[in-house]
Amino acid sequence: MQVMATYRICLIEGDGIGHEVIPATRRVLDAAGFSAEYVHAEAGYEYFLDHGTSVPQATYDAVENTHATLFGAATSPSGEKPAGFSGAIRHLRQKYGLYANVRPTKTRPVPGAYENVDLVIVRENTQGLYVEQERRYGDTAIADTVITKGASERIGKFAADLAMKRGKRLTVVHKANVLPVTQGLFLNTILDHAATVDGLNTGTMIVDNAAMQLVRNPQQFDVMVMTNMFGDILSDLAAGLVGGLGIAASGNVGDKFGIFESVHGSAPDIAGQGISNPTATILAAVLMLDHIGDHETARRIDAAVNKVMVEGPRTRDLGGTAGTEEFTNAVIAALA
Ligand code: NAI
Ligand code: MG
Repeated sequence: MQVMATYRICLIEGDGIGHEVIPATRRVLDAAGFSAEYVHAEAGYEYFLDHGTSVPQATYDAVENTHATLFGAATSPSGEKPAGFSGAIRHLRQKYGLYANVRPTKTRPVPGAYENVDLVIVRENTQGLYVEQERRYGDTAIADTVITKGASERIGKFAADLAMKRGKRLTVVHKANVLPVTQGLFLNTILDHAATVDGLNTGTMIVDNAAMQLVRNPQQFDVMVMTNMFGDILSDLAAGLVGGLGIAASGNVGDKFGIFESVHGSAPDIAGQGISNPTATILAAVLMLDHIGDHETARRIDAAVNKVMVEGPRTRDLGGTAGTEEFTNAVIAALA
């Protein structure tokens, strides 16, 4: 007898190592007994080169008709963009108003990780410089940055709510000293909201100092909120504190939809070799499971990943020799 799956999940491999880490994660979800029906959808640069669009209608349908989406990675070529191209993940974030990019950074048992780090970067995901409004006049190039009070309010509220569920500390990271109009609106809007939250301990930090403080004393932070590009950069930095991009997961969440992915990109330097670390995407699936309410499966997968981190095998980015498959097999064995 066919048993009805509890959840419908959209899987998008995207580009590069997305073709490795998504299938690996799917194997782990299956082994954990996660009750899901999967809808496979396409997006990314490879799809664009073949079809002239980076996100087809069928992918919108898949995202809209599932409980959540798990995304691999998508390439955005640097420099001149081919006509009609837009980066797949940025496009999806905008289209679905996935305004909060949540990037937990927590010490795990891997070599080279700082001890006792447990912070979350909350990156505003729809505005700032990543509205991608650039133009060129001869030898002058200009990029717009967009900050609205409404978007700053909703990300500030999201970050404050998250902080209240954790260590009750919120750090607003900004550059309002140099950009008082745009960064100032972001900073002051969030501070105004934070002041209304009983029991929340709010601080501010200028972004360049925040980069240094993250390296010197990351244990001081709980929830950090910042504009889009600062969050992009500092979340890679934060990943580097606790084992690197191979294990850093993130969630793009809005009021209606959630797309969960690694922090890393398509890693063209290692794609196709079967050596990528699928942990970041497996842990993104853990965030997804918590988001849709299957906390039990989330905890079991998280524990299995931690067990393999301690006992090995390890992938190359963490000093081991295991390939994607060997590592994934070990996580599946640890689930048993
Ligand atoms: P990247 O994150 O793809 O790779 C940076 C470095 O980390 C590379 O040396 C790579 O081999 C290594 N790495 C990343 N993930 C790994 C994993 N799972 N296991 C082992 N090693 C891993 O960043 P890069 O090289 O700057 O960008 C490559 C492409 O990815 C670009 O086209 C960029 O636009 C895109 N990108 C896409 C993102 C997304 O889809 N959300 C995020 C970041 C970049
Ligand atoms: Mg990034």
